[in-house]
Amino acid sequence: MLKDSKIVLTGDRPTGHLHLGHFVGSVLNRIKLQDEADQSFYMIADIQGLTDNANNPQKVRDNVIEVALDNMACGLDPKKTIMFIQSEIPEIAELTVIFLNLVTLARLKRNPTVKDEMKQKGFGEDVPVGFLCYPVSQAADILFARANLIPVGEDQLPVIEQANEIVDTFNRFYGETFSHIKHLTGNTPRLIGIDGAVKMGKSLNNAIYLSDSRDEISKKVMNMYTDPGHIHVEDKGKVEGNVVFAYLDIFDTNKSEIEELKEQYEKGGLGDVVIKKRLINILEDIIGPIRTKREELAKDKDKVMQILEEGTSKARIIAKETMAEVKRVMKIDYFNL
Ligand code: TRP
Repeated sequence: MLKDSKIVLTGDRPTGHLHLGHFVGSVLNRIKLQDEADQSFYMIADIQGLTDNANNPQKVRDNVIEVALDNMACGLDPKKTIMFIQSEIPEIAELTVIFLNLVTLARLKRNPTVKDEMKQKGFGEDVPVGFLCYPVSQAADILFARANLIPVGEDQLPVIEQANEIVDTFNRFYGETFSHIKHLTGNTPRLIGIDGAVKMGKSLNNAIYLSDSRDEISKKVMNMYTDPGHIHVEDKGKVEGNVVFAYLDIFDTNKSEIEELKEQYEKGGLGDVVIKKRLINILEDIIGPIRTKREELAKDKDKVMQILEEGTSKARIIAKETMAEVKRVMKIDYFNL
């Protein structure tokens, strides 16, 4: 690959189905970038998924196919994107061990993403070391492929920043080897949960999934937080902090109608059910076609596994090349076994 070529890489932890937060945060960008990149990679980060699911390998295993289906249903195309499974590339683990020497414990503990996730999972000092170190292994995920453009949700930016620090330290110690990594966040880098929480998350139980049925979408939207003071249709309602309007702002393309609805809501005379029904239809317009394609692809899971196997063997070749160079610059290239 030429030095200035655009190499895109993203990944998901296979710990559950993808939701609308993933969709607006990074999946849309993945789909777009696979047409613009010189090379595009999509990784199923099962080893990273195990960092906080070590006791539940079946969950991780089952979700490998699910996240592959989610991405392909959204338009990720294995002809354009090398789709692979992290654990099948041992060079990533090897590179992680090498990178671990370039990072301090204090720096890892300061990473805001890791800090947030540790708090959310209630780990404290009992955090698995592998979990604490996942930004280091994520740097290896990216750098083995020499990727330089990473479409991610906003929550992942501190991880990318740390990867760039690893690039700097590596290059300083062993000579110019890796290039800096850029990120690309979506137009909506962070989607709030259906409960109004700052983030939609599978472990927060506040997500609308790309595989949800119309009924599930309906139920979730009908339960969305609006304005607790808005009891009767004629009551004045608040738009700020109203989850339904927050979603309409993002997903409804008819901006002028939304402005009118907001005015009406604030004046009184517009019921929650009207705006909720509108949102249900809009979300169904987005998720419906994804669901249909997903069901189609899910009929032949063997074929999806075959796609992952082919992608993995391509990624493996690249990983071996990178690892050989890393060993050479680090002077640990003794034998050619
Ligand atoms: N940490 C990412 C997430 O939770 C998943 C991931 C693993 C990833 N390796 C990656 C994303 C490399 C981008 C690049 O969503």
